[in-house]
Amino acid sequence: MSSGRPGAAASAAPGAPAPGDGETGGRQAIWDERYRARELAEPAATTELIPGPSRALQRLSSMVPASGQAIDLAGGDGGDVLALAARGLDAVLVDGSAVALDRASAFADRRELPLTTVRLDLAGRRLGEVLDAVGRPRPAVVTCVSFLDRDLLASVAADLPGGSRFLASIATTTNLERNPRPSARFLLRRGELFDLVAGPGSDRLRVLHRRQGWSDDRHHAELVVEAR
Ligand SMILES: C[S@@+](CC[C@H](N)C(=O)[O-])C[C@H]1O[C@@H](n2cnc3c(N)ncnc32)[C@H](O)[C@@H]1O
Repeated sequence: MSSGRPGAAASAAPGAPAPGDGETGGRQAIWDERYRARELAEPAATTELIPGPSRALQRLSSMVPASGQAIDLAGGDGGDVLALAARGLDAVLVDGSAVALDRASAFADRRELPLTTVRLDLAGRRLGEVLDAVGRPRPAVVTCVSFLDRDLLASVAADLPGGSRFLASIATTTNLERNPRPSARFLLRRGELFDLVAGPGSDRLRVLHRRQGWSDDRHHAELVVEAR
């Protein structure tokens, strides 16, 4: 399923049925198309523009463990996961777009960073299923930046292994006051991230950081928790 070779890619997990309905498949095709256009404009094998980490990961970097396994969910073409790999974490990129994963692998090769990529449809999955599919049952940290799946978030309290951290940064509907995209269905309501992940009944999570607000002209909810 996985390999420590730089840029080595694995595809959809055996035994993990693709929940992708027509809508999910259609959306993934849209993401493939976006990354294909990016690849045409800036081929990963040659461009000088190797992606850096998101502003969210930069803001929260002090809360990322210094070693261990890191899994970046819906990490696109790898800006965040490459930063985690460069810090020395054993990094795994999970995304539904094969085109994005190929770009991330090419960037990893160019930087001589070990990276495992896993193509997986995350829609409606529990975190535990994802960790099993990825073959990393006890990661030091799981990151989720700019990707909203409420089922996944609601499973964190039960499924995050003891000692592991979960770090999320996702835009809220307030973002629409200044930016037309992402559209409302990809946005959290105010207070929703905390309620989904660490609301009542999630006593096994310790909240290390919680914030909602504007930064870089985007309105985000951010949360970092650690399972006891
Ligand atoms: C807004 S991008 C965020 C990428 C990266 N986390 C970042 O902050 O730059 C959303 C990513 O989610 C992925 N994605 C969307 N739906 C998905 C799904 N159902 N399963 C897996 N990945 C999905 C897309 O391919 C895309 O790379």
